[in-house]
Amino acid sequence: MAKEVTLDTIVSLAKRRGFVFQSSEIYGGLNGCWDYGSLGVELLRNLKDAWWKAMTYRDDVEGVDAAILMHPRVWEASGHVANFTDPMIDNKTSKARYRADNLIEDFIAKLEKNGKTDKAAAIAAKLAAAREPEDFYNIIIEEEITDPVGGSKDWTPVRYFNLMFKTFVGPVEDTNSVVYLRPETAQGIFVNFKNVMESARQKVPFGIAQIGKAFRNEINTKYFLFRTREFEQMEMQYFVQPGTHTEQFEYWRQQRFQWFLDLGMNPDSIRFKPHDKLAHYADAAVDIEYKFPFGWGEIEGIHSRTDFDLKRHEEFSSKKLEFVDTVTRDRFVPYVIETSIGASRSFMAFLCHAYNVETVGDAEGEDAERTVLKFHPKLAPVKAAVLPLVKKDGMPEFAEKLYRDLQKNFNVQYDESAAIGRRYRRQDEIGTPFCITVDGESLKDNTVTIRERDTMQQHRISVDSVKEYVMKSLL
Ligand code: GAP
Repeated sequence: MAKEVTLDTIVSLAKRRGFVFQSSEIYGGLNGCWDYGSLGVELLRNLKDAWWKAMTYRDDVEGVDAAILMHPRVWEASGHVANFTDPMIDNKTSKARYRADNLIEDFIAKLEKNGKTDKAAAIAAKLAAAREPEDFYNIIIEEEITDPVGGSKDWTPVRYFNLMFKTFVGPVEDTNSVVYLRPETAQGIFVNFKNVMESARQKVPFGIAQIGKAFRNEINTKYFLFRTREFEQMEMQYFVQPGTHTEQFEYWRQQRFQWFLDLGMNPDSIRFKPHDKLAHYADAAVDIEYKFPFGWGEIEGIHSRTDFDLKRHEEFSSKKLEFVDTVTRDRFVPYVIETSIGASRSFMAFLCHAYNVETVGDAEGEDAERTVLKFHPKLAPVKAAVLPLVKKDGMPEFAEKLYRDLQKNFNVQYDESAAIGRRYRRQDEIGTPFCITVDGESLKDNTVTIRERDTMQQHRISVDSVKEYVMKSLL
């Protein structure tokens, strides 16, 4: 029977088993930054690989890897310099700082929880219409929203705060040398639209995909890897002929949802969430949300962005960013369908989803409860563990040979310490799909037992077919 999972349990397992550590932990940590440990880095790589293969191993999508630092005009063209801001408010008593919209959202959620749905809906409508700092401030004052830390109602005015991290190129720190750490990977794709189209001899419709770090100086970081200041994105911009964008949006919306299902997500754990209000340049947008222990949260956005981005870059760079159809001689600035997923945020979704604590009837006398990470084999950090039943009678030597052989193709572990049941549990807790046990029979007939993580069923196969067996699970 599966037990309910809390975020604290996930964070604690992540640290204990080497998935994720706090950044600079020995110095007290740095808020909003996390380090991936030996298992975490494998899980993250597997996740990125699964995305990369699904998105770029096809005729019509090319990959790029653009620089994090870009010409500062890029961020003027994209609108980030003027608009990539969040409303910020401080409490004068506690000195705590909040995103004003989040403070109001939490207040609305509390009203809903207490059955005051009409009032909640009225405030939600005001929040949706809020544009200026005063609009947020007025809601907080009128609704007498109190500080979650200490309960004070003594607030500063609301100010807009730009989320881009600034730094300088070269030795002189003046306004002419300011550059930004990119807050999204998408702009590296837009500015390379023509380079990629021409060098890869692509024709519209085609896409460009990229995986890379992004940085946002979030006012409040939240929920472990959910909202951090440094994170990774996996984005794809699909360039289409205007008029075909609705059909393409629908296609990518379905593709992206299916990707999560193919990697083992349960259809009840993810959902589409249409946007309540569209950005001025978008004509359709939907999020894919995952049901985290703290509630539903966005993991990916699919946006139909019209020709806004390419036209802005045309305007700011004075370079044409058109597609010219060599047959019809039609020329146009393509529309863009964007799929944008957080690698770190979806890492956390897959980790939460895999986490299970089960009560098991145990014939081998192992503990009655097991913690098991039920990752899809493609995502599992360790694909198989090789375990000699006992440390004698040639079993370790036989097992080590198999281990070395498998290691040429997969990330595998060898473990000969403690009782076999204890070793199975250790592997369950890190999500290893297969435990391969070498016993007395193995030395006689060249067979081993394979224990399946999820069913705990065991069966014998020839040692020569182990590699193929593991490989099949990764297809
Ligand atoms: N180019 C579009 C774009 O960046 P976004 O909704 O701001 O859109 C896309 O970000 C995805 O990036 C989100 O769905 C989320 O998974 C991830 N993301 C955004 N901000 C994040 C943060 N502060 N920490 C972790 N992941 C974040």
